[in-house]
Amino acid sequence: MKDGYTVHPFDEKFGVRTSGLIAGRHLKSGHRHDRHSTAYFGVAPSVFAALMRRWRRLDAAARVEETVFLDVGAGMGRAMLLAAEMNFKEVVGLELNPALVRIARRNLARWRAAGRVEAEKVRIVEGDAVEFPLPDAPTVAFLFNPFDGPVLKRLLKKWEGALASGTNLLDLIYVNNEQESVLRDTAGFTRLFLGKVARSRADAIADYKIMANQPEGEYESSNFEDCSIWRWKGLGKRKPSR
Ligand SMILES: C[S@@+](CC[C@H](N)C(=O)[O-])C[C@H]1O[C@@H](n2cnc3c(N)ncnc32)[C@H](O)[C@@H]1O
Repeated sequence: MKDGYTVHPFDEKFGVRTSGLIAGRHLKSGHRHDRHSTAYFGVAPSVFAALMRRWRRLDAAARVEETVFLDVGAGMGRAMLLAAEMNFKEVVGLELNPALVRIARRNLARWRAAGRVEAEKVRIVEGDAVEFPLPDAPTVAFLFNPFDGPVLKRLLKKWEGALASGTNLLDLIYVNNEQESVLRDTAGFTRLFLGKVARSRADAIADYKIMANQPEGEYESSNFEDCSIWRWKGLGKRKPSR
C-alpha cells in the first residue's frame, strides 16, 4: 500500500507513523466514494501551524475551547494530532479507509501517552465524511484536498441543511484547494483568505523526497500549498416565490 516511503522528521521526532504517499486508487474501503479519493499524504506541520495562526486571527464567533475541529479525511492523523495540541472542545478525525484508521488510532494512543493532548476530547470515526452529521457546535472543518468535486458538493449540500437548522457557526480551512470553484459556487460561504502558504525548509525537503520516490510520479510537490479559508454566513432570507 506504500507509494514512496520516506520518513518525515515529524514521525522521527514524535515516534508516530504519518509519512508516505498513497495514491487514491490504492485507498479501497468498498464505499462508493472510494473512486473520488485523491490520495493519502500528511499535511506539512509548518503549513498547518501557519493556517491555524491565520484562522485564529479571523475572529471566529466562538472561542477555541467551544469549537469542534473536524478533520475531513484524517488519514494517519497528522493534522488531527496537531489539532489535539490545541484546547479545542473536541477533535474529530473522519477517515474512510480502515487501514489508515488503525494507524491513526495507534498514533493517537502514542500522542496521549506522551501527554501531548490538550483538547477535551479526541476521536477517530471510520466512514464516509458525507455521512457524518455536522456537529451541533461551532466547528472548524479542515480539508487537505481529500476528494474530488462531486463528493465535496455532496458534503456541502448536506452541511447546508444542518447549518440552516443547527448552530450555523462553521469555518472551513481548505489546503491544496483544487476544488475551490465548488465552494465559490456554493451560496452561503464567504472566503476570508486565499493564498499560498509556505512550507518550512525541513518540510519542503521531506515532502520533496517523498514525492520524488513515487513509482509513477503522478503527484507534484512545491514549497507552498494553495489554501483558502471560508466562513458560513448563511443564506439570508430568500424572496418568497410567486
Ligand atoms: C490528503 S489526506 C489528508 C490527511 C490529513 N487530513 C492530514 O492533513 O494529515 C486525505 C484523506 O482523505 C481520506 N478520504 C478520501 N475520501 C474520503 C471520504 N469520502 N470520507 C472520509 N475520508 C476520505 C483519504 O483516505 C485520505 O486519507
